[in-house]
Order: sequence, then structure tokens, then C-alpha cells
Amino acid sequence: MVIECSRVTKRFGSQVVVDELDLSVPAGGCFGLLGPNGAGKTTTLKMIYGVTAPTEGSIRVFGEDVTKHPRRVRARLGVTLQENALIEVLTPVENLRVFGRYHLLSEAKLDDRIPDLLDFLDLRSHAHLPVVALSGGFQRRLQIALSLVNEPELLILDEPTTGLDPAVRLALWSRIGELRARGTTVLITTHYMDEAERLCDRLAILSEGRRLVEGSPRELIDAHLARAAVEIDQDPAHHASLLARLNGVHHLKAGRRLMIYGDDGPALLEAVQRAGGDPAGLVSRPSNLEDVFLALTGTGLDGDA
Ligand SMILES: Nc1ncnc2c1ncn2[C@@H]1O[C@H](COP(=O)(O)OP(=O)(O)OP(=O)(O)O)[C@@H](O)[C@H]1O
Ligand SMILES: [Mg+2]
Repeated sequence: MVIECSRVTKRFGSQVVVDELDLSVPAGGCFGLLGPNGAGKTTTLKMIYGVTAPTEGSIRVFGEDVTKHPRRVRARLGVTLQENALIEVLTPVENLRVFGRYHLLSEAKLDDRIPDLLDFLDLRSHAHLPVVALSGGFQRRLQIALSLVNEPELLILDEPTTGLDPAVRLALWSRIGELRARGTTVLITTHYMDEAERLCDRLAILSEGRRLVEGSPRELIDAHLARAAVEIDQDPAHHASLLARLNGVHHLKAGRRLMIYGDDGPALLEAVQRAGGDPAGLVSRPSNLEDVFLALTGTGLDGDA
């Protein structure tokens, strides 16, 4: 295990933000930490990174107690937190150099590594502009490049793709794939369920500082929902009568959207149409991680079929 959190609690005053959290992250894969706003994800990452100490419990990273050996642990990991931490008056190249020196890398090594990192995050065209002159997406890419300067064995990414355009997001996914292929362990948070489903071997979903579930995306979907979903976009006033006609079917509500679950997609779609679901607003699709997230953290899953 690269990370082992054991009964970790974090309190700010009387507020319990992380609540007896157990978490084990194995070496060499991509582990996702999901949860609603305020669930305690960033706080957990900060404790793993050693910038804030747990109130109770222990965290071991690479087998070392983070609170006792923060520098030794940090030398082997890279982190991109939710907020960028860049020196705005300096260029990307200068930022990378300053950060490399912090990690005690030689100038020769930096001469070698910086061009590779600029290529890896496709930053070359902006390498010599001051950070203030870069768009948000380029600043984010630079932040990720900085977290790779020490060739970390563990990479922590807190919402790395928020604000990135679709092409850059796709490029970053393939970069994360390359890092994993080289043996880097990745711990990531994201609010994009498609991203989590695509990138992560294992996921934990947190809510109010507690771990609700853990497993592979497939395991979580199979454990919590039937295979097929029909999504209905309709005035919520019609939801109750539709559900009454479908008689005890598993469903979730999210505003105008009503999701109905069953094992046989075509049969489910037919049943919903027969029950009066407006055909123009119906989408039939496989159940996905977003459904699991909503079922566990958002509106409740009810019905007994
Ligand atoms: N330094 C602090 N002092 C007081 N409360 C804090 C502090 N840092 C975080 N909190 C509180 O802890 C809770 C969890 O915050 P955290 O940033 O870990 O959530 P998160 O899961 O990362 O949410 P998001 O998805 O919005 O990034 C929040 O209620 C937040 O207000
Ligand atoms: Mg956060």
C-alpha cells in the first residue's frame, strides 16, 4: 500500500470534517476520491501531503508516518491542489526551475527535465510568458507540470481538469495513463463522473467525511443499480403519476430529470413509454457512476422492484 489512513479524523473547532476515515491506496494504479462539495476530499489530500495534521488517527505514506517525516514523504510525491500555487511574475520555465531547486535537483538535471515537462503538458508555446499572462487552462497545466518535476512515485491531483477545455482534458487523461504505465500511483479527486469511470481502478465515495463505499467503478455500479437506465426529462409535476403507473420501480430524481432503472433496457424503455413517459424526453442508456453518486450522496434511491 502506498497510502494507509487509519481511523483518521479531522476537526476544525467543533466541526468534524473527516470522520474516522480508513483508506488504503495500492501501488501503481489510479485511485479516485469522490464526494459532494464539502465532503472532506481536499482536507484528506492535505493530510496525506502533510500540510495539515489529523486530529486523530494515523496516515502512513510509503510506510512512513507523514506527521513525523513530512519532508521525506514529500520528496517522493507530487501534488496539484485545488488552488494553483504559481509564482505569477515568473514564466513557466522559471517556475519549474524554482520548484526543482526546492526539490534540490541540480541545474543540469533541470536543463534536462524542463523541456520534457513542457512537451508533456504541451506548454512550449507559452514557456516564456509570465504566468499572469496565461489563461486559466495553461496555468492549470503548468501546475500539473510542477507536480511532476521531482518524478514523483505518488501523484496527488485535486480536481486537475476543472476548467480545462475538452481537448486538454483528453490529453491529460492520456498523460495520466502514461504515468501509470511507468508505475506512478495516482490519487485523484474529480466531480466529473465520466472522468472517474474512465481513469480510476478504484474509487471511494465520501460524504460528510465518511467513506460510504469503495470499489472499482464497475463493482460500484453493479452493486448499487440495475444495468439499464431510462432518463426522463419532464415537468416534475408528472413524475408521481408516471411512477405510480410503473409500480415500485427503482428511481432517482434530480430536478426535471427522473431516472428509472431495470435489468433489461429495451423492456424498460417500452414500459416507461406505455406508462406515458413523453417519448421526446426519453433517453435509454446503461447505468453509470453518476447514478451511483446520486443514489448514495444526493437524492435517495427508492422503490422496491
Ligand atoms: N482551514 C479550515 N478551517 C475551517 N474549516 C475548514 C478548513 N478547511 C476546510 N474546512 C471545512 O471542511 C469541510 C470540507 O472541506 P474540503 O475542502 O475538504 O471539501 P471537499 O470535499 O474538497 O469539497 P469541494 O468538492 O468543494 O472541493 C468544509 O465544510 C470546509 O468548510
Ligand atoms: Mg476540494
